[in-house]
Amino acid sequence: MDALVRLLQLLLLFLTLPLHLMALLGCWQPLCKSYFPYLMAALTASTNRRMESKKRELFSHIKGLMGTSGRVALLELGSGTGANFQFYPPGCRITCLDPNPHFEKFLSKSMAKNRHLQYERFVVAPGEDMKQLADGSMDVVVCTLVLCSVQSPKRVLQEVRRVLRPGGVLLFWEHVAERRGSWAFTWQRAVEPTWKHIGDGCCLTRETWKDLENAQFSEVQMERQPPPFKWLPVGPHIMGKAVK
Ligand SMILES: C[S@@+](CC[C@H](N)C(=O)[O-])C[C@H]1O[C@@H](n2cnc3c(N)ncnc32)[C@H](O)[C@@H]1O
Repeated sequence: MDALVRLLQLLLLFLTLPLHLMALLGCWQPLCKSYFPYLMAALTASTNRRMESKKRELFSHIKGLMGTSGRVALLELGSGTGANFQFYPPGCRITCLDPNPHFEKFLSKSMAKNRHLQYERFVVAPGEDMKQLADGSMDVVVCTLVLCSVQSPKRVLQEVRRVLRPGGVLLFWEHVAERRGSWAFTWQRAVEPTWKHIGDGCCLTRETWKDLENAQFSEVQMERQPPPFKWLPVGPHIMGKAVK
């Protein structure tokens, strides 16, 4: 299997040689950071249509965290274009965090469309180092399609636990690796080095459920879902909540 993966990787590398050369020379990364928000904006509407009922179910947990004030402090981690705003109930005070400043324009558009929410600020920083956010300052952290792209899921989850108040909740939806040994997993391994460049660091073979289970939350619940787009090498998804 390893030899087959290597062979396929080489074939794809050959077919996408200019991309790999640009990455090697350091000129791909800035280009990718600029175009990636446009790609995400183009995909968001169809993703949300396919995921509407599941996202509504996931974000229905927010109301239960509001207490008597009717308000909740919510961190949108890896906020991207603000794809989830339409599913949040009124009373959410939202802090957005993303290391890519090129998303701000798209984020502002989503904010303008979702006036039922209160926006606090947009922090340009990686999830591995959220020092601008105080310990225990968030009731909810939302993380959708982000842990595939971060440098260290373990450090991000440590930071999530730090910024959540006791009893606060992480709501997540992430794509993960196919079953080890399957053809789909072999294909993911073959495509990954090229896919990572196209998808701004997106890894296909992360077993993110293990990171979530090992992150020392008091309770973790998740369900596995089939991929929303069959034509992409992106694998199954996990959706659920982790309580601090
Ligand atoms: C596939 S997009 C998902 C965006 C959005 N959460 C959604 O559901 O549409 C991945 C996002 O993670 C962000 N990201 C990448 N590395 C990150 C990191 N280390 N910490 C936080 N966010 C990161 C990217 O800039 C991008 O906005």
